[in-house]
Amino acid sequence: MVKTTVQLGPLTLQNPIVTASGTFGYGVEFADYLDINKLGAITLKSVTINPREGNAPPRIAETPSGMMNSIGLANHGIEVFVNSILPKLELFDRVKVIANIAGHTLEENVELAKRLDIVDRVDAIELNISCPNVDAGGLAFCQDLPMVSRLTKAVRKVTLKPLIVKLSASVPDIVALAKTSVESGADILSLINTIPGMDVDIAKKSLFFKRGSAGLSGPAIRPIALKAVYDVARSVDIPIIGMGGVATVEDVVKFLLVGADAVSVGMMNFVRPTLSGELVDQLSAYLVASGETLSTLKLTA
Ligand SMILES: Cc1cc2nc3c(=O)[nH]c(=O)nc-3n(C[C@H](O)[C@H](O)[C@H](O)COP(=O)(O)O)c2cc1C
Repeated sequence: MVKTTVQLGPLTLQNPIVTASGTFGYGVEFADYLDINKLGAITLKSVTINPREGNAPPRIAETPSGMMNSIGLANHGIEVFVNSILPKLELFDRVKVIANIAGHTLEENVELAKRLDIVDRVDAIELNISCPNVDAGGLAFCQDLPMVSRLTKAVRKVTLKPLIVKLSASVPDIVALAKTSVESGADILSLINTIPGMDVDIAKKSLFFKRGSAGLSGPAIRPIALKAVYDVARSVDIPIIGMGGVATVEDVVKFLLVGADAVSVGMMNFVRPTLSGELVDQLSAYLVASGETLSTLKLTA
């Protein structure tokens, strides 16, 4: 037996494998594929105050080594989230539940955090300030450091739950962004969100996605994510959930080596719905076979 428990500030996970927001539904959809109770945590699809239809199709496209999405935070809104979705997760008592909030304004995020602060099944709140697929809020927050500061402080004030701030790498200085989030009250950072990109429909001579830009995810962005985690881990003193293109246990180990304390699986859940559960077992096997522990997984050069 190898110890896999990780302490992310105030949040304890039974192992460091997490699923990324928007790629694992509300967890229960995956219950036929794997025992979701064996995961460290699941991060639920972003929730907003009002239900959102999301963006007009097309919403996804395949790319070499990845996918692009322009979902636009489609979700049922906070009422359904609290009253119908979260209760279904009460059956799963070992996996931690991270609720991801994506209000369009500071006030909406404060309201969302207040609503979730009193829900027992929510173990942590992830503040999504990095979605590239919406017109208001989202990535625009991340690109405005004074706003990141006000927003994080305001959300921090209304909740005692562990607060995760989710960052984008599509900013001029991710280290400055990370430091601002920490100084403003984040307990944990998660990074990275998708990276804005574009595709073109040559038959129609038009941009493929209605909004033009869409978010790139998957193995294509892994090198960018590894560098972002490496840079941020050297600059701040709080735990990091690393993500971006995780497909194998070796990828998990790479994120841990560059400074992540936990690792999220995103786009690859669509390719292999069983993957996150397999990674839990494969990480334990890796630790046993290599004689490492989670705390010895550090770069030596
Ligand atoms: C289809 C899709 C939907 C996503 N929706 C959300 C979302 O609602 N909220 C969020 O914070 N991130 C969302 N993300 C971003 C992922 O959580 C993750 O940060 C990103 O995809 C990088 O990880 P990956 O390369 O492993 O997918 C979404 C990603 C994809 C592919």
